Amino acid sequence: MDFEEVIRTRYSVRKYSDRPVEDWKIDRILEAARLAPTGKNKQCQRIYVLRSPEAVRRIGDLCIMIFGAPVIMLVFAKRGESWISRFTGRDIAETDTSIVTDHMMLQATALGLGTCWVGYFDPKPICEAFGIPDDLALMHILPLGYAAEDCEPGPLHFQRKKVSEFATFLRSLLGADDLATDLLLGDPGAIRRLGDVVVLRLPLGDAAAFRYLDPDVAETRGHSLEP
Ligand SMILES: Cc1cc2nc3c(=O)[nH]c(=O)nc-3n(C[C@H](O)[C@H](O)[C@H](O)COP(=O)(O)O)c2cc1C
Repeated sequence: MDFEEVIRTRYSVRKYSDRPVEDWKIDRILEAARLAPTGKNKQCQRIYVLRSPEAVRRIGDLCIMIFGAPVIMLVFAKRGESWISRFTGRDIAETDTSIVTDHMMLQATALGLGTCWVGYFDPKPICEAFGIPDDLALMHILPLGYAAEDCEPGPLHFQRKKVSEFATFLRSLLGADDLATDLLLGDPGAIRRLGDVVVLRLPLGDAAAFRYLDPDVAETRGHSLEP
């Protein structure tokens, strides 16, 4: 499977067959977790692999999103081991462990296995049940195995935004010939004068970013800079 096929084939598998997962496939999936990039290469991920029928039954009692999978990866972050952004103070552990989980998910897909990323769980009882040390924070759960023959993607799988709904091409924020600026100037809400400063509001999904704009750019487009 090439990469394009992997990302197009993957969907959240919510019904698994009893077919056991081969050891070598688990090893390959863990190798993908090992090779994943992490902030400042801190590698804060810790992974518990649940495979014994007893452990799988136990996690199924504590998390309703296991879907009969024969193997469950519990993805933890070791507290204090991840990079902290000096700019925002943000702990990068969630990003690191998400990249690790995504690597495992895509590697599993490439090996013909199904997965479902699970974020719907209460970490406390799970950590207690498995005797997880206090310095590990449970971040994600990844059930995996062979999809049941009658398993199909859920309806949400087919609902994707168009690229134009979430991607914005910005070539030069200050250039009068800039395509993105032209497009944004077409949006009356996109440009504001804040005191002496003119800013562009950049639509970034549900969020927005603000950039300084050369007032001449707006004025040569005949755009009103009145607040
Ligand atoms: C961070 C994250 C958390 C998720 N948590 C759950 C979950 O708890 N239960 C579940 O059934 N699916 C969960 N999903 C799967 C998403 O619902 C699914 O990826 C999305 O609906 C698109 O469907 P698809 O994966 O089949 O393409 C989660 C996905 C992500 C990325």
